[in-house]
Amino acid sequence: MKRRVFLGCLGVLGVAHMEINAAEAQKKTKSLIIYFSRTGHVEALAKTIAELTGAQMLKVEPIEAYPNAYSETVDIVKEQMNKGIVPAIKPLKVNFDDFDVIYLGSPTWWGHISRPMERFLTDNKFKGKKVMLFTSHGGSGVAHTREDVQRLCSGNDIAESNAFYGGSANDKADLQSWIEKNVS
Ligand SMILES: Cc1cc2nc3c(=O)[nH]c(=O)nc-3n(C[C@H](O)[C@H](O)[C@H](O)COP(=O)(O)O)c2cc1C
Repeated sequence: MKRRVFLGCLGVLGVAHMEINAAEAQKKTKSLIIYFSRTGHVEALAKTIAELTGAQMLKVEPIEAYPNAYSETVDIVKEQMNKGIVPAIKPLKVNFDDFDVIYLGSPTWWGHISRPMERFLTDNKFKGKKVMLFTSHGGSGVAHTREDVQRLCSGNDIAESNAFYGGSANDKADLQSWIEKNVS
């Protein structure tokens, strides 16, 4: 009986050890999180990824901020998309050579990545990276966001995207299993 309890404890310890190793392996990978967030949902996801991986965070910000009012922003963005306007963002300096994995975070806007993220990816090119796209949305799911990243980030290994409805309760567990599945 005692022997069975002892072996059971060893089993539990073994699983815990494997989990710690997986988390440590993530932290050794050189990762960068580039994100845009207007109302904080994507930013919360970005912070959780940073906590899980030790990745640095870099925030994309439009030079001219979008209004606080939701419907006004929706109309402005629709017009920008119809006219092909990709507004300027504040300058960011990134040395992509320092990173193996690039996490990209954006809200879904009209089924696509946000205009500020479109601007960043148009102006900043990198190759040979693992690209991990995560989005926050109000019901559309991944929609066309992964296609946008495939178009803008050719020459990279683009992992399956992860789309979150608003601020969902299981974000941390979902993010952790997504990272473990895609980043070795
Ligand atoms: C301009 C605009 C367009 C949007 N378009 C969509 C959409 O097509 N599909 C969707 O599910 N949610 C859409 N949303 C909702 C946002 O994706 C959602 O609120 C998201 O969680 C916001 O993330 P953030 O808090 O990081 O800005 C839109 C929001 C805005 C402001």
